[in-house]
Amino acid sequence: MCSHGSIGRRCLLPHIMCGIVGYIGYRNASDVLLDGMHRLEYRGYDSAGIAIRDKDSIGIQKEVGKVSDLEKLVSSMKPGGHQGIGHTRWATHGEVTSLNAHPHTDLRKNVTLVHNGIVENFMELKAELEYSGVSFTTETDTEVIAQLLAQIHHGDAVSSLVELSSRLKGSYAMAILIRDEADRIYCIRKGSPLVLGIGEGESFCASDVPALLPYTKDFIYLDDGDIAELSAAGIKTWNSQGEKISKDVCRVDWDVSMVDKCGYPHFMLKEINEQSRVLRDTLCHRVNSSGIDLSAELTISSAEVAALKKVHIIACGTSYYASLVAERFMENITDLDIRVDIASEYRYRSIVTGKDTLAVFVSQSGETADTLAAERLVKKTGATCIAVTNNPNSTLAREVDHVLQLMAGPEIGVAATKTFSGQLAVLYLLGLFLGKQRGTLSTSQEEKFLSEFANLPYKIDTILMKHEEIRILAEKFADSRNFLFLGRGLSFPIAMEGALKLKEISYIHAEAYAAGEMKHGPIALLDSEVPVVVINPRDELYEKTLSNIQEARARRAPIISVITEGDVVSQKNAQASVSVPATENDLTPFLTVIPLQLFAYYVARHRGCDIDQPRNLAKSVTVE
Ligand code: AGP
Repeated sequence: MCSHGSIGRRCLLPHIMCGIVGYIGYRNASDVLLDGMHRLEYRGYDSAGIAIRDKDSIGIQKEVGKVSDLEKLVSSMKPGGHQGIGHTRWATHGEVTSLNAHPHTDLRKNVTLVHNGIVENFMELKAELEYSGVSFTTETDTEVIAQLLAQIHHGDAVSSLVELSSRLKGSYAMAILIRDEADRIYCIRKGSPLVLGIGEGESFCASDVPALLPYTKDFIYLDDGDIAELSAAGIKTWNSQGEKISKDVCRVDWDVSMVDKCGYPHFMLKEINEQSRVLRDTLCHRVNSSGIDLSAELTISSAEVAALKKVHIIACGTSYYASLVAERFMENITDLDIRVDIASEYRYRSIVTGKDTLAVFVSQSGETADTLAAERLVKKTGATCIAVTNNPNSTLAREVDHVLQLMAGPEIGVAATKTFSGQLAVLYLLGLFLGKQRGTLSTSQEEKFLSEFANLPYKIDTILMKHEEIRILAEKFADSRNFLFLGRGLSFPIAMEGALKLKEISYIHAEAYAAGEMKHGPIALLDSEVPVVVINPRDELYEKTLSNIQEARARRAPIISVITEGDVVSQKNAQASVSVPATENDLTPFLTVIPLQLFAYYVARHRGCDIDQPRNLAKSVTVE
């Protein structure tokens, strides 16, 4: 994480991805903050804290653990104020302690703040402050900000924040209480996300919209450098120079039920079950009687599409696996040179891009630091940049030329499921659009794909109905210590996604390989203790993968296969198999991924894991 910049390996604690919430109005502030923090826990959940202002005093409570642990502490104290800030933390360096949890203050408690991001020059600033006599109680970069702001602030809060931001390097979103600014909360952002919520007689801020959905649907999205003042009477904003600005108010159409479990035991299971709806919504916005139509979102002329030579798709994690599937599909239906890269690798390589490049950045959150960094590099070269994201107001969405929005609705489970399907669907439609525009996709091919696309939601529902069969299967294998996932062609990235799901929520080691590569190394791992999950739908590579299954069986590895309905041969060659309905070869990933998501879910549930908030993970990875 500290791979460059001035602090190098000396950094102790600064890398934090977190959720922040602020409230001022007529409600009990601690209730609003804790409620919002619960909804932001997907961003981080190793410690939490709140600061509540009640008349002249600012009371701080912090606790190691989840927001529910903090809630127990707070409920015994019953703070009564109507103004406060809160924070849920995810630290990658340094200890998780109550001391290091936010909010942080200066020694005189004139400034109290919560922070999401990383201040890269915090060691230099700390040394300066120490030289001037300031002493520190934590090793965090956030305390440095609080102490620095306390030293700067004399009089006007906005001028103080302009000066503060001129001194900070790195990224930050902050909510700040200043002792002598009694009825206000200040916010400032650069690099890290922050939204402001508008209410009647109340104002809010949060790292993300879902935190505030029970209270408002009207939001202001701050741009880099913006400063805001929240009061019960409303919100005022300034730019990075301290000049007053007015910002657009956006009404979101997300509903609060979208961020509730609606009777499911976990968000992940709810979200797995939403995938047929996601596909329907994705298509109904982009397909009409004349076929694929992306003109509302992609204002790229036919001449511009014709001038393209390459498509670079850049993403992380699950978004990367969705991109790998899309790469193979796009290769089949366009004449473009397609490549897919992991954002954290791409950004440090010397890959040539320019006006002939369509650069597609795939990110559920639109806030992933590496994906954003890659986008900023590519944009400078003149490439046309597209974001494929679930968050149309994210930093990524606001920086690119065109946005293709996933129709997934908020995804709360840390393990991505419905957004994977949403990404696949949008990327496939982009591929069809490019093929059509460049004349490499015939009308009959387009019709064939679109009509089968329309059938996929029904087929997904039939797989979801097999949840009990998959639960029993998962529980049978839940004590295994290692899994191998295999697939070829379009099924290879699905094997990777299946292995990732299992790893992140059940903590079982799982490795994915291209089935043909197994004999070049991983076959040495196989014995009767290592189940091999093989994704082998009836496509043009089916027979080849069947041979790989024989190789694994010969080493006594138990085979669990995901197959096409009616495939008796595969059934006979496996300990267990889950079948999915037949579909076009290129569309099998939409179906084969579903049993793998359910399998990981039920394994994790059987093992008693924290499914929606797996250890060490955060939903949005907003630092490098
Ligand atoms: C998925 O289950 C993971 N939690 C993770 O790999 C995720 O896909 C990755 O961090 C990318 O996030 P993004 O799509 O928001 O950019």
